[in-house]
Amino acid sequence: MSAPLLRTAVFFLLAILFVNAPLTRLRPAAFTPRVASAASRDPVRASHGMVASTNKLASEVGVDILKRGGNAVDAAIAVAFALAVTYPAAGNLGGGGFMLIRLRDGRTTAIDYREMAPAAATRNVYLDAQGNLIKGEGSSTIGYRAAGVPGTVAGMALALRKYGSGRLTWAQLAEPARRLASDGFTISYNLANSLDGNKLLAGYADSKRIFLNNGRYFKEGDTLRQPELAATFARLQRGGAREFYEGETARLIAEDMRRNKGLMTLADLRGYEAKERTPIRTTYRGYEIISMPPPSSGGAVLIEMLNILEGYDLRGMNWASSEKYHLVTEAMRRAFADRAEYMGDTDFVKVPIAGLIDKKYAERQRTSINLERASTSAEIGAGRPTGYESEETTHFTVVDAQGNAVSNTYTLNLGFGSGVTAKGTGVLLNNEMDDFAAKPGTPNAFGLIQGERNAVAPRKRPLSAMTPTFVLRKDGTLWFTIGTPGGPTIINTVLQAIINIVDHDMNIQQAIDAPRIHHQWLPDEIAYEPYGLSADTQRALVGRGHKLVTRPRYMGDAHGIMIEEKTGMRLGASDSRNEGAAVGY
Ligand code: GLY
Repeated sequence: MSAPLLRTAVFFLLAILFVNAPLTRLRPAAFTPRVASAASRDPVRASHGMVASTNKLASEVGVDILKRGGNAVDAAIAVAFALAVTYPAAGNLGGGGFMLIRLRDGRTTAIDYREMAPAAATRNVYLDAQGNLIKGEGSSTIGYRAAGVPGTVAGMALALRKYGSGRLTWAQLAEPARRLASDGFTISYNLANSLDGNKLLAGYADSKRIFLNNGRYFKEGDTLRQPELAATFARLQRGGAREFYEGETARLIAEDMRRNKGLMTLADLRGYEAKERTPIRTTYRGYEIISMPPPSSGGAVLIEMLNILEGYDLRGMNWASSEKYHLVTEAMRRAFADRAEYMGDTDFVKVPIAGLIDKKYAERQRTSINLERASTSAEIGAGRPTGYESEETTHFTVVDAQGNAVSNTYTLNLGFGSGVTAKGTGVLLNNEMDDFAAKPGTPNAFGLIQGERNAVAPRKRPLSAMTPTFVLRKDGTLWFTIGTPGGPTIINTVLQAIINIVDHDMNIQQAIDAPRIHHQWLPDEIAYEPYGLSADTQRALVGRGHKLVTRPRYMGDAHGIMIEEKTGMRLGASDSRNEGAAVGY
């Protein structure tokens, strides 16, 4: 063969091999793609600061604070106040939550502003004379008796005092919210839907007048004005945070409670305190995970699941494979069983946190996982470590130009909380008392079984699932922030977002948008989002012994910000499942 002919033959041979290479890789046994084909928008890119929340107006408020020289904590406070106006289902002054802060120098802290049980809330306060759970008005979910003492105002004040930039005052941070409440804002499709025909809010005079247009209901495009809430913000601006707990606002809340046989008194409001706590940490495949300690179960359950999953090659499994879903479910089952048994407010009960998040404990937990067959939750009780909601919580996150970061989840618990707007204040009150085990061993509104450690007691904080989280790169710099609402699904949404990024190389928006599953030990079933699992995967999971149920709607409303390694750009992502927006500058 002549040299040119030989060269041509070699060229074609190589070309055929090259062109066929992808086909060769497509052989089923060898098909282990690292990147899932998660169709999704691109994250929002900005070079200075970024805010991602469930409401564009609130995200814009945060960005404006950053532009005026505020840091991430200042902006987070203004966003929390703005959401109390524009996202009344969960944004709040009358609820509570958790703020995780990471400063540019690497220091991290957690602000616990979870609601506290009123002094009159004793163990059986939600049981009738026969020992059965009270239903409807008077229960832990509806009306005046369902509300815990709100923590949001105290939490924001603590965050500002210790970690604000000092360049913006409390009154300045409350001003955008006051203006939104006073001038009004345009009601979105989702907000109009959530208010239309809302029976809970219809039961309480101020709620009905303010949010239901006195029974005439608002339509998408109408304007919602909240003058009483604007006046409450104005009092907070003049009197500071203590006004909410000791001033005219406190007096109005306590007086409305007294008239309606609520549990909360002026003394309860005076006695509320936000607390600073130490975040809990682990590493997952070498990346540091920083999350929320008790009284949220979020961080500990997340870490237990990550520790269990670290023992498996998830990267080598197809993102959508039944093999992966099986293992993720088994991790969820075990960690939620431990949640039910062991977790509660550590100011009141002993929780074996160190044992639960110990990697050796995860090793022992893995020994009970059969790779081919589902365990049953009946046989998987809590392990032996040494030593939840409608979707209506809300999460937001901020990263500023200096690199300070906030990951904040707060809530009224179920959508619009207890349904009660305290007369004359415009403040919707939470129904967080349902996050206690009103009757240990009996499911709460999220179907969560919870134990004695989370029984009701005066001044105790109910166990939460809120999981505001940071993940660091191996060099110790911030990689991304993540969090979501969704009751018990919160922890599993955060888990799956982390796995999507660490194990499947997704970007922050893909990781958030990808379909999710949820298992919480009991009920013993995998919940999946509509269209979220292929029929083949479902069959394979059922074949392994799993039970599947579909959710009528989606799970969660996650928001995250990733720092791009090469450029330092802030990449913001708001869940495509909802109306949120990442806004940067
Ligand atoms: N209210 C839901 C939670 O704190 O988990």
